[in-house]
Amino acid sequence: MGTMLRDQLARPLRDLRISVTDRCNLRCTYCMPAEVFGPDYAFLPRTDLLSFEEIERLARAFVALGVRKLRITGGEPTLRRDLPELIARLTRLPGVDDVALTTNGLLLPRMAADLKAAGLHRVTVSIDSVDPEVFGRMNGLGTHPQKVLDGIEAALHVGLGVKINTVVQRGVNEAGLRNLWLALREKGAVRFIEFMDVGNHNGWNLDSVVPSREVLARLSADGSGAEFRPLDPNYVGEVAARHVDDAGHEIGLISSVSAPFCGDCTRARLSAVGVLYTCLFAGSGVDLRGPMRAGADDDGLRELIAGTWSNRRDRYSEERGEATLERRGKIEMSHIGG
Ligand code: GTP
Ligand code: 5AD
Ligand code: SF4
Ligand code: SF4
Repeated sequence: MGTMLRDQLARPLRDLRISVTDRCNLRCTYCMPAEVFGPDYAFLPRTDLLSFEEIERLARAFVALGVRKLRITGGEPTLRRDLPELIARLTRLPGVDDVALTTNGLLLPRMAADLKAAGLHRVTVSIDSVDPEVFGRMNGLGTHPQKVLDGIEAALHVGLGVKINTVVQRGVNEAGLRNLWLALREKGAVRFIEFMDVGNHNGWNLDSVVPSREVLARLSADGSGAEFRPLDPNYVGEVAARHVDDAGHEIGLISSVSAPFCGDCTRARLSAVGVLYTCLFAGSGVDLRGPMRAGADDDGLRELIAGTWSNRRDRYSEERGEATLERRGKIEMSHIGG
């Protein structure tokens, strides 16, 4: 079974990450810094966004080519009007095993029940610190971490699966990692993400990355990290390296800088305006909206996607170095959702 579609490095197409808006109700310094994404920032006009019909149509084409997992991202996807309606369309698609949402959690108290009713399987909620001062600074707006914790509770309450994402930055939130872990470990797997050089505005440099092995050490009381045992991946190409402590609490280490995982990368990304990107760090993508709105049929769309995937050679994180860091005009995180 399955499709024979492979890219130039023999990687199949398995996951599609769909961004549904470029807007967000936070201004995380590493993603949408407030100085750049200010009151005058020109966000995408609504008519440029793919409609739910268009997203569903493209998702079907991707599923026909091997995609089994869909992840809805943004910006902040819960800001997209009527999001549960889109979720319902996607969870109904034959062949889709997993539909997840990456969110900052702020609107979950309001939306979790509708998302669950629409068939959403799980959410991944981002929170970088449980210290109000640190989190307030990192999210750019002084938003209190309790708001995110309320969102996590709301998701658990309606029976959604929950994972937690924490971006780690040297000298910013590293000192509070153990506190965050203690506060959240009963809620779901907590994944610690090495700060990445996504986009063009986050002032990334290698010194600001805390390698995952250091994160692990910081999580234990004695600073050794010894109580965490590695677990096998849930699936080939899993981004997070899972570990578990003696009490069964799971953590994930996402080491895109210190241990890149391009070799197994099976992810395509669709921006809110319908551009297909074959890497998180791509400079350009392939427009699917144009041909679709110009009347391309399903065969034509599938051919365009398959052709793009089969030419793919991306392995940015494995090549990261002087030359790649000089590269300008990378896609913004808020257009591609991580
Ligand atoms: P699961 O389905 O729960 O395994 O989700 P996930 O870990 O694939 O998705 P999530 O959106 O939670 O991503 C976690 C972090 O990993 C984010 O910071 C992403 O930007 C990063 N990430 C996900 N996929 C890739 C990838 O292909 N390349 C790189 N470099 N980072 C990625
Ligand atoms: N480096 C690492 N992770 C990032 N995210 C956003 N920007 C970055 C970055 N520069 C995270 C978000 C979210 C996930 C999808 O990506 O916090 O959890
Ligand atoms: Fe918004 Fe997520 Fe980016 Fe923070 S990381 S600004 S919550 S999209
Ligand atoms: Fe895939 Fe690009 Fe990330 Fe490598 S850097 S894992 S190719 S998205």
